[in-house]
Amino acid sequence: ASVAIFLSGGGSNMRALVEDMQGDHPARPCVVLSNVADAGGIAWARERGIATEVVDHRPFGDDRAAFEAALSAALAPHAPDLICLAGFMRKLTGGFTDTWAGRMINIHPSLLPKYRGLHTHARALENGDARHGCSVHEVTAALDDGPILGQASLAVHPDDTPESLAARVLVQEHRLYPAVLRRFVAGDRTPLLLTA
Ligand code: GRF
Repeated sequence: ASVAIFLSGGGSNMRALVEDMQGDHPARPCVVLSNVADAGGIAWARERGIATEVVDHRPFGDDRAAFEAALSAALAPHAPDLICLAGFMRKLTGGFTDTWAGRMINIHPSLLPKYRGLHTHARALENGDARHGCSVHEVTAALDDGPILGQASLAVHPDDTPESLAARVLVQEHRLYPAVLRRFVAGDRTPLLLTA
């Protein structure tokens, strides 16, 4: 299977996925795409000979459909079977998520359905949650809301800050996402639950 990976930033999740696909794995990365030209993940992928595409969302203003048409055009030559969103910070409309229904997954830094959206670590701390973590889910038109394919959970420490918690969650993201992708490519949709 050919996997497209979308990112907007450093791409640590993309790197974890690419490195896991180097070995005995049913999938290969076919393209790394970003909406940000100087995203660290784009340079990293280029250095490793992985095809990259940049589709800057800004020229499209609030015309999400036009941006998504440009995404589809950029993807076409790479013929991905699946899309992994990995720190991709643009909302996708139902037009795009319907096209990729069942073939697009995302990692989100919370134990969904808790804390959809942003600032998840601060919100977990504000709520005094004892446990926190990350989730991989199928992408649907509703934000951070599709069927859950896997979760990794960890204990919140009394002295945690949003930054310290985010750092520990990110380590679990790099465990969870590659493990879920392997199962997803194999057609296994049973949720994978990891504990740190
Ligand atoms: C991570 O917190 C991830 O959960 C979220 O984007 C953040 C940055 O990810 N989706 P990465 O280092 O760019 O993969």
